[in-house]
Amino acid sequence: MSNKTIMDYDTVALDDAKSALVIIDQTKLPYSTEILELTDLKEIWDAIYLLQVRGAPAIGVAAAIGIYLEAKKIGVEETEFDGFYEKFAKAKEYLDSARPTAVNLSWALNRMEQVVLTNKTRSVEEIVKCLHDEAVEIREEDILVCRAIGEHGLTLIKDGDGILTHCNAGKLAAVKYGTATAPIYVGQEKGYSFRVFADETRPLLQGARLTAFELKESGIDVTLICDNMSNMVMRNGWVNAIFVGCDRVAANGDVANKIGTSIVATVAKRYNIPFYVCAPTATIDMATPTGNEIKIEQRKAEEVTEMWYEKRMAPDGVKVYNPAFDVTDNDLITGIVTEFGIARAPYSESLKKIFTMKS
Ligand code: MRU
Repeated sequence: MSNKTIMDYDTVALDDAKSALVIIDQTKLPYSTEILELTDLKEIWDAIYLLQVRGAPAIGVAAAIGIYLEAKKIGVEETEFDGFYEKFAKAKEYLDSARPTAVNLSWALNRMEQVVLTNKTRSVEEIVKCLHDEAVEIREEDILVCRAIGEHGLTLIKDGDGILTHCNAGKLAAVKYGTATAPIYVGQEKGYSFRVFADETRPLLQGARLTAFELKESGIDVTLICDNMSNMVMRNGWVNAIFVGCDRVAANGDVANKIGTSIVATVAKRYNIPFYVCAPTATIDMATPTGNEIKIEQRKAEEVTEMWYEKRMAPDGVKVYNPAFDVTDNDLITGIVTEFGIARAPYSESLKKIFTMKS
């Protein structure tokens, strides 16, 4: 029997020999670890939409690899730039439509498009080669960026602390360290131990199925709680800090993350518990002024009414509201932990400063 744990598998990778995007099918976790090898653009779109690959950074990496694989196919038929670019742009727009809230999807696709445009004078074959290298770089960068977030985040906590997290912003949402879990994993490498509380995260249970799973597999002390228990554990004094990931940070520091995040932030404020958002700069969208302009993905009613039991668990025909994300207002956020350091209020200034460090 193999001793492999989930931490030994790639969340998202490129298999050059098979010209395939390789992902763990996250809809099957934790019961079975099924690896998917996707070669077709529609399959990749479906994998993103159906959350087989999910979490803002992982979606970005998957899209970069996906558009490279498609460009490689297009390049066989279209050897002139104009024909190649027309089909590339269509494929890019299609992939970008898979999910609206996580800005990493369009961030990665725009970065890939820039590679095409800046290499316009080269042959299509050379452009495809550049796209390959950029997709590989986007993936490798994610590991370094998350590691840096872990180092900065670790300065905010101490050995033995209780940490609460919501949804999955872990290794399964990125390439290696995750974002919200990065301080925990980097701390573990340095010999620290933490007590982590993972919100189950209704309706799709990313906290129970993914966060509790990967932390447990990593030997981290994790306790699973239902979403409506977070007030209780905070009131009990068991939580020293909250770390969450995010799908988009607006220029004023408002943050969109998995539905329910704003409830955790509101309760944390009540108990004076610091609430930190971990965000690679790829997730910060300076073109979106506030959280009000962030498009929130609405998902199908069945995720709320039918996904828990074999039988439907709500009355037929009942109205359902199922937003996948909510906005946490910037005044509830103690700090935004990026790969370049920790931004604090006023965010409209500190986030700008973070971008000057980037350039
Ligand atoms: O719908 P999901 O599972 O893709 O939602 C994921 C989240 O909300 C994560 O917290 C976010 O993408 C950050 S992942 C590092």
